[in-house]
Amino acid sequence: RVFAEDLDASKSVAAEIANLIRQRAADGEQCVLGLATGSTPIQVYRELIRLHREEQLSWQNVVTFNLDEYFPMQPCAAQSYVRFMNEQLFDHVDIRRENIHIPDGTVSSESVNDYCQRYENLIEAAGGIDLQLLGIGRTGHVGFNEPGSERASITRLVRLSEITRTDAAKDFGGLENAPRLAITMGVGTILRSRRIRLLAFGEHKAAIVERSVQGEISNSVPATYLHDHRDVTFLLDAAAASKL
Ligand code: GLP
Repeated sequence: RVFAEDLDASKSVAAEIANLIRQRAADGEQCVLGLATGSTPIQVYRELIRLHREEQLSWQNVVTFNLDEYFPMQPCAAQSYVRFMNEQLFDHVDIRRENIHIPDGTVSSESVNDYCQRYENLIEAAGGIDLQLLGIGRTGHVGFNEPGSERASITRLVRLSEITRTDAAKDFGGLENAPRLAITMGVGTILRSRRIRLLAFGEHKAAIVERSVQGEISNSVPATYLHDHRDVTFLLDAAAASKL
């Protein structure tokens, strides 16, 4: 779906998320959300905070799983996704802290594989993800599933591409400080979500949006794996859709 402005797309997906949360609450059930970081979802979170404040949207029944985190990463660091999520969303709504899950960038290198398997098990134990929010990187990555990622991949430690590190460099004060590794949900993990909503805004995303939407399914653009999901929507602004 193409929207005139990025704000319209953000409000549309925020309304869908709010409806889902309310529906589940009415049924006495939990709502499991898969969340993303980056600049793209910020307006979605802003709108969800507004709905909490002005329209009594309660987060008491919400369980969240974030897609990814740099590795290693301290939660209190300026660039951590824990900090990002607290500042952009969690500190402003009534979510229960024990219902928040973000890959832990402080686990040791020896235990990271076991940790990733446990993260995968937690998602399953929660009943799977109802709605996964996604952004897209310039390499076509979703989460941090860079080109070369397998369709069946699960939560794991990955190496970041040079393009992704270059995009991250501004937050880390230069490429030399940009992390080389990250923990990410896998492509398979993402595809098991019942609904997937990918947001992409701006002219700088137009080329990768075009390859993701019109290209053949291939591990060279991991976002193409979304094609055969039964409930996926790309929400774009006019600039990101300009090459379609
Ligand atoms: C990072 C995140 C991705 C995100 C991407 C795009 O790589 N791990 O989840 O989609 O950045 O970021 P932005 O939304 O700032 O363009």
